[in-house]
This record gives sequence, structure tokens and C-alpha cells, in this order.
Amino acid sequence: MADKVARLIIEENRELELPILQGSAGYPVIDIRQLGAQAKMFTYDPGFMSTASCESNITFIDGEKGILLHRGYPIEQLATKKDFMDTAYLLLEGELPNKQERKGFLNRICYHSMVHEGIAQFYNGFQRDAHPMAIMVGVVGALAAFYHDSLDISDPEHRRIAGDRLIAKMPTIAAMCYKHRIGQPFMYPKNDKGYTENFLYMMFGVPCEEYQVSPALIQAMDRILILHADHEQNASTSTVRLAGSSGANPYACISAGISSLWGPAHGGANEAVLQMLNNIGDVKQIPKYIEKAKDRDDPFRLMGFGHRVYKNFDPRAKVMRQTCHEVLEELGVKNSPLFEMAMELERIALEDDYFIEKKLYPNVDFYSGIILQAMGIPTNMFTVIFALSRTVGWVAQWSEMISAPDQRIGRPRQLYKGATQRDVK
Ligand code: SDX
Repeated sequence: MADKVARLIIEENRELELPILQGSAGYPVIDIRQLGAQAKMFTYDPGFMSTASCESNITFIDGEKGILLHRGYPIEQLATKKDFMDTAYLLLEGELPNKQERKGFLNRICYHSMVHEGIAQFYNGFQRDAHPMAIMVGVVGALAAFYHDSLDISDPEHRRIAGDRLIAKMPTIAAMCYKHRIGQPFMYPKNDKGYTENFLYMMFGVPCEEYQVSPALIQAMDRILILHADHEQNASTSTVRLAGSSGANPYACISAGISSLWGPAHGGANEAVLQMLNNIGDVKQIPKYIEKAKDRDDPFRLMGFGHRVYKNFDPRAKVMRQTCHEVLEELGVKNSPLFEMAMELERIALEDDYFIEKKLYPNVDFYSGIILQAMGIPTNMFTVIFALSRTVGWVAQWSEMISAPDQRIGRPRQLYKGATQRDVK
């Protein structure tokens, strides 16, 4: 119920009262749902700079303070006190699991981690040098061909199984993308391994010998997965919600989310950061690239910097930077030139008036690529790992959207500036 209203004066003697709704945190919103009917007008907000597209209970970001909460828990606490499976359960169910709930959840996910052998055949159709994200978009969408007939999205149990399948199969599909590229046989998931350990086992294990994943790698990867799990209504999550609003099956919706995440302005930025650092090549070249980033006529942007919401440090970047130190230390990659360059680039950028004035800080993608590369993950797999993690957030947000009592198809309007009606001569 709204107890405050916004008064919109459209023209003399024409005023409209619009309810103001207040959530549990963040900016209040002006409810404009009746604007079209009452004022015969729309609002205009390309890029959704000031538009709330939905109501949600899952994740909250305070961009000014650099705060990120998942169901109320700060990301820094989840990243250091919990693991990815706890975080996944929290995002999906709303509370952290107790021992029994955790055991049941791990079981559910574990027994869906294999993919249909027909899916494995799909990979043969891709060239070895196909970008893993292109493969992932196709393979995840194709899951619908194997499960579409057992999916009534109005049935909560069917929705849960579909979500479990997607979360469980993403590591297997991701590792298969990597194995296909390097021409090694696919590894099957092992039921006695944890979620993150299984992913690294399927990535780096071979059938010829036992492969023990190092606990340091498991911990580092698990933390990276936690930091990428969900992030309010970002571009790929909004894509999943909009696709799902038409009643499309969740496999198709997650495939759409993967496509959106792939863009270099979004999840593709981690791969772009590594390419940028390699192009800069030397710390001495940094000032030249900083100038390019500031030049409005130059399309170059400092990848891994800036964010639509964070106008302060991205809290994930802080945890990621600390993790970077720890992983490089653990792996004995002492003075990684890339990491040194990234820290110098961060230092110079954060002292530059342009970046200070535009509030451009390192985001989650700035350091993640350096850790992943140090862990032996190839650059073209970085966004695949982002998608693996974000599948949990996408499933949680899709479930919230599809089960909302007022759920309806999303259909934005437009400001039309084209030709008005005319007749064919
Ligand atoms: C992710 O939304 C999410 O939550 C996304 C994400 C998630 O977890 O889902 O957090 C993950 O996508 C992180 C962002 C990764 N992308 C990058 O690192 C790519 C580089 N960053 C930019 O492309 C940009 O900062 C965006 C896309 C992230 C944000 O774009 P906005 O909000 O539309 O901001 P903008 O492009 O309007 O920039 C505002 C100003 C502009 O200058 P003016 O036109 O005002 O003169 O800042 C400048 C931009 O030119 N600017 C940059 C810059 N980012 C913005 N200038 C140089 N380098 C940059 N990186």
C-alpha cells in the first residue's frame, strides 16, 4: 500500500497522483503502471537508468556505499565464511541451509550433474576453435530438447527439477567446452566430489590417471563462483526474466542469459581485461591507455572499470583483489607481471580526475581474469565460468518471476520517431 504520492503536473489543470512505493531498502519507486491509461503517456528510459523492472527479494546493491547483499547477507561474509553451494541454496531458498538441508541440496545437485549422451554428440559438430561461449549458448538451449516434455512451469516441483538440472549440468557442460577445444576426452562427474572440486576435476583430469584437485584451487574457484552468483537486474538477468515472462522454458531462458552475458560490456569484460592488459604490455604504456580511455573520440574503454550501479568500489572487486594475492602466493606465482600491471593501472586510474569525477572504480571483472589465468584457465573460458556461477542467480530470479502472483509478459513501449501513416502510390 502506498502512503505517499508523487504529483505529476502534465499541463495546466491536468495533474496526476502516482503512488510512491518503498521497499525494505534502497530508493523508493514511483508506480507508473496507470500512467498510460490515465495520462495517455509513457515514460522514456533507454538503458533503464532509473527504472525498476520488478519487485525482488533476492539481491540488493547500494551503489553509493559499495554494498552487495544476498538475502540480506553481505557478499564479503558469504565469500569468506560460506561456500558456493551454501550461497546457491541461500539465493534459491531465501535462507542459509542447516546441515540436513545442505546435505539434501548437494544430493539433489549431484545426481543431475551428468548430461545425456546425446548432448555429448553435439560437441562434435563444433570446430575445435569454436568460442566456448558459442558452444555453451547452443548446448544449454538444446537441453530443452531433452527435458521440454517433462516441464510444466506452473508446477513448482517441475520448476525446481529444471533449476537443479541447470545448476548441476553447467560445470559438466563448461568442462566439456574446454575438453572439446583441447581435443581431450570428456571426464564424467564423480558423485564423491564436491560441486567446485568436480568442475576442476572435469576440467583438468584425464582418464589415464587419478587427478587430485588442489584444495587451494578449489577454494579460489569456489570464491570466484560465490562472487559472480547474482547481481540484481543486470543485463543478462533481465534477459532471463523477459524471456521467461513469455512462458519460454527455463533452458531457453538461461541460454538467452548466457548470450547477453557474453557481451564485453557485461560478463565478457573479464576476458577483455586480460586482452587489454596484454595489449598494454608494459607498465610504462599505462598512461597512454589511460589517455585513450579518457578520449571521447576513442572507443577504447578501460575494461574492468566502471559500473552502472556502483559509484564506489565494487565490493566483489575488493574480495577478488585479496583472493588474487592469496592465489598467486599459494601458486608461487610471485611477481606476476599481469598482476603488477593491474595494480599499477588501478593506482594510476584511481588518482586520475577523469575516473574520480566519473566515479569509475574497478569492478568484479578487473581481477578475476588474473586469478583464473594463474589457475591455468584459458582466457576464452573466463566468461563460461561467469555463466556457470550466474546460472544460480538466473534460476533464482527466473523462479521468483514465474511464481509472482502478478506475473505477466514483459512488453516495453517506445518513443516512435519514424514515418507517420502514408499510402503506397
Ligand atoms: C558486469 O550490471 C551489473 O550488475 C553487471 C555485473 C554483474 O555482476 O552482472 O556487475 C557484471 O557487467 C560488470 C561491468 C563489466 N564491464 C566492463 O568492465 C566494461 C567497461 N565498463 C564500461 O563499458 C561501463 O562502465 C559499463 C558498461 C560497465 C557501465 O556503463 P554505463 O553505466 O552505461 O556508463 P556509461 O557508459 O554511460 O559511462 C558513463 C561515463 C561515460 O562518459 P560520458 O559519456 O559521461 O562522457 O563514464 C565513461 C563513459 O565514457 N566510462 C568509461 C568507462 N566506463 C564508463 N570511460 C573509460 N573506461 C571505462 N571503463
